[in-house]
Amino acid sequence: MSSDPVRRGRLTGGRPADVAAFLSSIEADRWIADADVRVDIAHLLMLDHQGIIERDASSAVMVALLEMYEHGVPETVFDDEYEDVHAGIEACLIAKSGMDKGGRLHMGRSRNDEVATCIRIRLRSELLTHLTKLAALRAALLEQAGNHTETVMPGFTHLQHAQPTTLGHYLLAYEQALSRDFERLTDAYIRVNRSPLGAAAFASTGYPIDREMTAELLGFPDLMLNTMDAVSARDFVIETASACTILMSTLSRLAEEIVLWSTSFVRFVTLDDAYCSTSSIMPQKKNPDTAEIMRGKSGAVAGAFIAAFTAVKGLPMSYNRDLQDVTPSLWRAVSESGACISIATGIISTATFHPDRMREEAGRGFSTATELADVLVREYGLPFRAAHNIIGRAIRSGEITLSVLEAAARELSDISLIERGLTGERILEALDVDVSVRMRSAPGGPAPETVKKALSMRTLALEEDVIWVQSEQKRLQNAEDTMIKDARKLVDES
Ligand code: ARG
Repeated sequence: MSSDPVRRGRLTGGRPADVAAFLSSIEADRWIADADVRVDIAHLLMLDHQGIIERDASSAVMVALLEMYEHGVPETVFDDEYEDVHAGIEACLIAKSGMDKGGRLHMGRSRNDEVATCIRIRLRSELLTHLTKLAALRAALLEQAGNHTETVMPGFTHLQHAQPTTLGHYLLAYEQALSRDFERLTDAYIRVNRSPLGAAAFASTGYPIDREMTAELLGFPDLMLNTMDAVSARDFVIETASACTILMSTLSRLAEEIVLWSTSFVRFVTLDDAYCSTSSIMPQKKNPDTAEIMRGKSGAVAGAFIAAFTAVKGLPMSYNRDLQDVTPSLWRAVSESGACISIATGIISTATFHPDRMREEAGRGFSTATELADVLVREYGLPFRAAHNIIGRAIRSGEITLSVLEAAARELSDISLIERGLTGERILEALDVDVSVRMRSAPGGPAPETVKKALSMRTLALEEDVIWVQSEQKRLQNAEDTMIKDARKLVDES
């Protein structure tokens, strides 16, 4: 006879090991084993409070649950004889407190609402950890940006030198992008943080359960009210995996840039050795492997998102076993992206940027031509398009001098810039990279003073974000502590 408490009635015990392994979610369930103990405790407190279970039974089962809570679930729970951790834990509780008591815990619920609740509990804390890590990465970017408000560098479009900017401006661009990833994960958290418990198989239950009570015990501010939706919804998985995938697109871009910047023909940055590898054959090599792996991992996370989405999209209401196979994709998306955030933080905070090399490149490729065009517009009355064409024509000849510009202006617009007062000195000044950067002081622009202003705004925003995460972590911890106190009281009173 099967030792799985769920199977032994309806089904004959024996089945080939490969079938047992195929059906089982036990390895992935390691993610939710602790959450399952907490869900059991909340459910049992509620059954007791509602008078659905006798006190001697609730107390005996609670003793066994508290032991698991304090010492962790025993390894026997993960025997692959069990279909999942819920069956494993129930078997263990029955072994400890006897069938007459332990066999009463599963009244008024199903593994369907149980597993959905467990996933949400674990995911909640994973998301808060993600947000904490993201905050650290944003802080590292802000700190480096603060060191480099005056560091002039080339900005690129089409990866061609475009206009000079500052390294502070560039680093703030990534911080701003990551703050949106932060928002997306926070948004996902809000929808993860709802309790499906009490939905049972999908149709709720005839027992007089109190869903609000278990939700509160488990720190959920809201219910997944409709019980059919509660057990079958995995959009919170898709949403989280999607937010992780979008985050990976940000991190992968950053990684790509780090790889590029550390090449010897760019040399904008030197990475700390800790984040690099060498070659087994070429003794001179120092390769940015952590950034490359980060770039590569974005594929794994996106794959996990697609796997979850594809598994869910064709499922009719309500619970279908396909859903079991969705959960590992979630953990993959979460763990891979979480590792990448930490690595990115390490890379950025230990990186040495090279302001001299950046300055060398800042003016290359006539990168200040836009500023000269603006000067011709502002000070010499040309329409922007005419100025743009005249400078473009000059650049075609390979240099921007007063005589070349004058010839281009006469040819294209039949005007004389010299007659309008343009001098060689004014041209040189307009082409200066520092002037070009200082002029670009519209909000969010690269001018050092503007970057300093943005930096203090971003620092404040980050502080608020960190306070929110910490208060949420505290709220969850308080809910857990209160529930455990109640559980101990139930045992003590018996
Ligand atoms: N282990 C399952 C899952 O991860 C939960 C069990 C529900 N099983 C069932 N046959 N209804 O989704």
